[in-house]
Amino acid sequence: MKKGFIFDLDGVIVDTAKYHYLAWKKLANQLGFEFTEAQNELFKGVSRKRCLEILLEIGKREATQEEFDTWMIEKNVDYLTYIENMDASEILPDVPRILAYLKEKNIPIALGSASKNAQPILEKVGLLHYFDAIVDGNNVTKAKPDPEVFLLAAKQLDVNADNCVVFEDAVAGVEAANAANMISIGIGAAEVLSEADCNFTDFTEISNAFIQKLIEK
Ligand code: BG6
Ligand code: MG
Repeated sequence: MKKGFIFDLDGVIVDTAKYHYLAWKKLANQLGFEFTEAQNELFKGVSRKRCLEILLEIGKREATQEEFDTWMIEKNVDYLTYIENMDASEILPDVPRILAYLKEKNIPIALGSASKNAQPILEKVGLLHYFDAIVDGNNVTKAKPDPEVFLLAAKQLDVNADNCVVFEDAVAGVEAANAANMISIGIGAAEVLSEADCNFTDFTEISNAFIQKLIEK
């Protein structure tokens, strides 16, 4: 049975969650309220628009449509300054080993991310060539936990959804993978990602033998 492997980007391939946090925090402070790292957990896997809605709920701020649009742009412009100088040193540990193993075994690989900045980030860190399909915030209409992003990735890989494996660091992402009937692998805190089929703190805990078992499953 042909298998497909789908990777989320932020928090799975690269540690960009910290940059998203800094950019949202800057906007919150500018609007006169605090935004904590704990609150930032709610933003993982969530679209930029939904993040701003949550931020405004946290700060109990109302916004006109014009303000909303301006703040979305401001946040992204700030975020882009952080990712501008990203390089391979910001790839999370052992991600290249897993990607190289899958490539060696001729397994199709896709990106399934909510970010509209996904492709330039993969280019900057030098991993773009591993991906046979890229599905990101520019291609989907429904955000995670809706399975659309992963179903579209499976389609682009020409693999049945139930033969796909998804790596995710966000609760919404694990829910999306489960809703797509895919094997969900949680990367991060197991107590947070308790809905995942398997949990690992990071890729250093995932052996090539484990990947091989997933391929043969
Ligand atoms: C997800 C992140 O991958 O992408 C979210 O986990 C982020 O925190 C979302 O809001 C959208 O990203 P971007 O780059 O389009 O603002
Ligand atoms: Mg993520």
